Amino acid sequence: MIEIQEILFDEQAIENKVRELAAEISRDYAGKDLLLVCILKGAITFTADLMRRITFPAALDFVHASSYGASTSSSRRILIKKDIEADIRGKHVLLVDCIIDTGETMDCLLKRFGERGPAGLKTVVLLDKTSRRTVEVPLAYKGFEIPDKFVVGYGMDCGEKYRTLPYIAAIRQA
Ligand code: IMP
Ligand code: MG
Repeated sequence: MIEIQEILFDEQAIENKVRELAAEISRDYAGKDLLLVCILKGAITFTADLMRRITFPAALDFVHASSYGASTSSSRRILIKKDIEADIRGKHVLLVDCIIDTGETMDCLLKRFGERGPAGLKTVVLLDKTSRRTVEVPLAYKGFEIPDKFVVGYGMDCGEKYRTLPYIAAIRQA
């Protein structure tokens, strides 16, 4: 049984933060060829909101990454279920994820895309679970730091449920 324990960020708080991040990104990338890469599935809602606030036409692509294996860093592996379609050589790439936890997913994608000759490769995350990091990842833009709680909503799931919630909540698993 899963129970919503506490709403951490309501729709208004999320909207305000997304606006701030989009303003920073719009300022920093003005005049550049920007490709937003949405990390499926969790980043779908964040990406959709963020891209509408970016003040110039950016391109959009998707990568589907998921982790498998035990949750220790040594045995954890990232599986790429779907790669991006764009050729990123000479482009400014911004990887978009809703949450960073151990950092393994972002680390894997930074290495993978870094080998393809982009002009720039940076990251934006809405939530940062700082205490669980096992690998250091540079975060160019980040929304909120959160404690070590499992969260759902705004694209994020627990067993594929709760992605549709418009707010972000911590859950209790009984
Ligand atoms: P990392 O590779 O450990 O940084 O994990 C990143 C991915 O794990 C995210 O893209 C999410 O899909 C998932 N994830 C991590 N923490 C949570 C959470 O609290 N709720 C839902 N998904 C999470
Ligand atoms: Mg998941």
